[in-house]
Amino acid sequence: MHEPIQSQFDLGSLDLPDILGTIHEEVRARLGEGEVAGYIDSLAMVPLDRFGMAVVTVDGEVFEVGESRQRFSIQSISKVHTLTLALDAVGDDLWQRVDREPSGDPFNSLIQLEYEKGIPRNPFMNAGALVVADVVLSNYDDAAQALLEFMRRRSGNPAVGSDIVVARSERESGYRNVAMANFIKSYGNLENDVEAVLDFYWLQCSLSMDCVDLARSVQYLAKRGHCGVAGERVVSYELSTRINALMMTAGTYDAAGDFAFYVGLPAKSGVGGGIVAVVPHVMSLCTWYPGLDDKGNSLLGRYALHRFAQMTGLSVF
Ligand code: DON
Repeated sequence: MHEPIQSQFDLGSLDLPDILGTIHEEVRARLGEGEVAGYIDSLAMVPLDRFGMAVVTVDGEVFEVGESRQRFSIQSISKVHTLTLALDAVGDDLWQRVDREPSGDPFNSLIQLEYEKGIPRNPFMNAGALVVADVVLSNYDDAAQALLEFMRRRSGNPAVGSDIVVARSERESGYRNVAMANFIKSYGNLENDVEAVLDFYWLQCSLSMDCVDLARSVQYLAKRGHCGVAGERVVSYELSTRINALMMTAGTYDAAGDFAFYVGLPAKSGVGGGIVAVVPHVMSLCTWYPGLDDKGNSLLGRYALHRFAQMTGLSVF
């Protein structure tokens, strides 16, 4: 695939500090809305009085407002990074084991797995992420270390690590993920032990990062596969467009249609309240607000991204 010669977008025409300031003001008036992820004990205690947002341009400039340096549980946002590791290891063979279609079902749904014979609809719902975790485990000598190293290099923050309280909490309340992993294993779509896959999955979900770390960690998806933070290529340009397409169609689960409609950017959410989004060739973003909507996406994060796209005209459509 030919790379576009130059980005046509002139960032100088946008007053990003002013735009982020306006969003922050609007969001502040709505703090308290939404529900924390009550099914994971340690997330259920996070107060709804904080919002953060960070923008990282492809040139590495950072714009931020609110609690953009407050670490939080990244949860399903990690599925973007593990997908990248899996694709790097096995390439298109991954698609023999995970599909690439939106599910229209909640992120933790099992319903399609039976009639689709253990092949998850996409790599971002929990079922798909478990298969991706299995691929990472099979293809890296020390998968946990490889993921940590990847996150640290992509974010430029050597202190990125797992929150053991969250990891323990996930294990204690992870009945549905345990059922799902066993069910997928029964179809022969996990190579490793169910326990090893779940341990890795819970580790990735319990990573703790802030908005600036996370926006930087996906800069390679805005920068044609090149990570400006570490100064190295992560994936090909073509693969970066593929990952962005999956984020657009499945990154926010059964709200992906609404995200395309209101935000118009590839995005990936987590039940810790974070959302990363990508404006190809221009910037990557992260918002954080722990109050979720009924689809498990951050309510004010989604609002902030909607307003950002509206004010900047940066929807990919
Ligand atoms: O497995 C779970 O249910 C959580 N650790 C992650 C789910 C998640 O973040 C879904 N995103 N909106």
